[in-house]
Amino acid sequence: MSSTEQADVNGAPCAKRSKLRPNPPDQESTFANLRKVKDWLQRFHLSEQTLRDVSARLHKDLIRGLGKHSHHNAPVKMLPTFVRATPDGTEKGDYLALDLGGTNFRVLHVRVVEDEQRVLKMDSKICAIPQEIMLGPGEKLFDHIAACLSEFLESLGLKDQTLPLGFTFSFPCEQIEIDKSILIRWTKGFNCSGVEGQNVVALLREAIRRRGDYDIGSVAMVNDTVGTMMSCGYRDRSCEIGMIVGTGTNACYMEEMKNVKRVEGEDGRMCINTEWGGFGDDGSLRDIQTEFDVEVDRKSLNPGVHTFEKMISGMYLGEVARLVLIKLAQENMLFGGKISDALRTPEKFETRYISEIEKDDTGLSRAQEILSELGLPAGPEDCEIVRLVCATLSTRSAQLCAAALATIANRIRTNRKLDHLRTTVGVDGTVYRKHPKFSQRLHDVVRILAPKCDIRFLVSEDGSGKGSAMVTAVAQRLAAQSHLLEESDGEEDSEEDEEEEEEEEA
Ligand code: GLC
Repeated sequence: MSSTEQADVNGAPCAKRSKLRPNPPDQESTFANLRKVKDWLQRFHLSEQTLRDVSARLHKDLIRGLGKHSHHNAPVKMLPTFVRATPDGTEKGDYLALDLGGTNFRVLHVRVVEDEQRVLKMDSKICAIPQEIMLGPGEKLFDHIAACLSEFLESLGLKDQTLPLGFTFSFPCEQIEIDKSILIRWTKGFNCSGVEGQNVVALLREAIRRRGDYDIGSVAMVNDTVGTMMSCGYRDRSCEIGMIVGTGTNACYMEEMKNVKRVEGEDGRMCINTEWGGFGDDGSLRDIQTEFDVEVDRKSLNPGVHTFEKMISGMYLGEVARLVLIKLAQENMLFGGKISDALRTPEKFETRYISEIEKDDTGLSRAQEILSELGLPAGPEDCEIVRLVCATLSTRSAQLCAAALATIANRIRTNRKLDHLRTTVGVDGTVYRKHPKFSQRLHDVVRILAPKCDIRFLVSEDGSGKGSAMVTAVAQRLAAQSHLLEESDGEEDSEEDEEEEEEEEA
């Protein structure tokens, strides 16, 4: 796996080399540095055997998370979503969608068109969430969201309508019902007080009630992975996995009901939000964590939480890289041993730099620019070394993600007792979308670790926005179907019974 990496990291034609500063006088020793750094970076290398082993560990944890009694202490939460069906193409109507969990908060007005089998984005608005709100009291966060939605509805003249709302809330939630979802804990950059353990839909409704200037209809809560799977499901009916590699990382998939021990019922399937970011929180990944991963975790908002995510996702990759660059400079292998104030500043080496630096054509000259902005004396070999660091970390990230995805694909195949599985993964997230080599590296490793699975990757068209509307639409369709059955039965079924009658579609 790493042989191709080495080739494109070091063997890529360097078109812009002439723009770079000339080599420092002691070029010999700088080349020696590159060789030394290569050896030093071996600590981030994951062999095929290690990746297989990681996959086997994750598989055990998936089962623990699904179990009635083992769930409580399981690091991978395997949360039932109560989404039992993917779109069937008969969904329609106007919806509002909220999307909270990435870098911004968005509100959308979307239309699901039955005949064209499409979700149309009518309008949308992005609202910044200032850091003091991300870290302040929960009430302020929901007031901010409700205010943003109010402005949006006002600008569209929709305030007097009561539209159903899909709420993509990209944090681990214990879903009690489609509109009752308890936040287990904050992840990524959020840490608002008074929200963990609470029903997020109720907090949203209360904030809207406090304002009193508009109302919303039924609400469906959705994780971004589920939104992504659902929005891709509209285009490709065999989409049964949703994966995000962005600010955070996570995946969901359709699991057999008989294995979902915490939910009653044996028939059909249910979408499970794995929350695979929490893999390793019980120490099971200690052997592959480096001192830099440990340091990033220690300094994060939530130490000990989401270990796997911190080795993979965009919120942390740049920070791991920054710590590695400092260490290499301290060991006299980089920047002539110099460390600038900027490089010492947390978060200063942004994850997007990794994507830029790894571009074949412009990467090295971009490295030069970035390093000079960071006040670092960087010659061509320094740029090569920085690029090698970036490639090493993003490769490890892609390989870990691939090991996790292969675990899920292999599980679906064995669940269904198939010799060969054809399936589609709906994908979203800045790291997957923007990094020039991430997706290819991920696909290559998945192919090796899940050889009996034929996997199509479909990048979602705005899964978080459209997908949550799609879930609301499917929920409404199923509610309408249950209603019809109920009416024609003339019996008073409990809500649980209604759910059991929902039709399953793979
Ligand atoms: C974090 C959240 C998870 C989300 C993922 C991607 O891991 O806990 O719910 O799906 O980020 O946004």
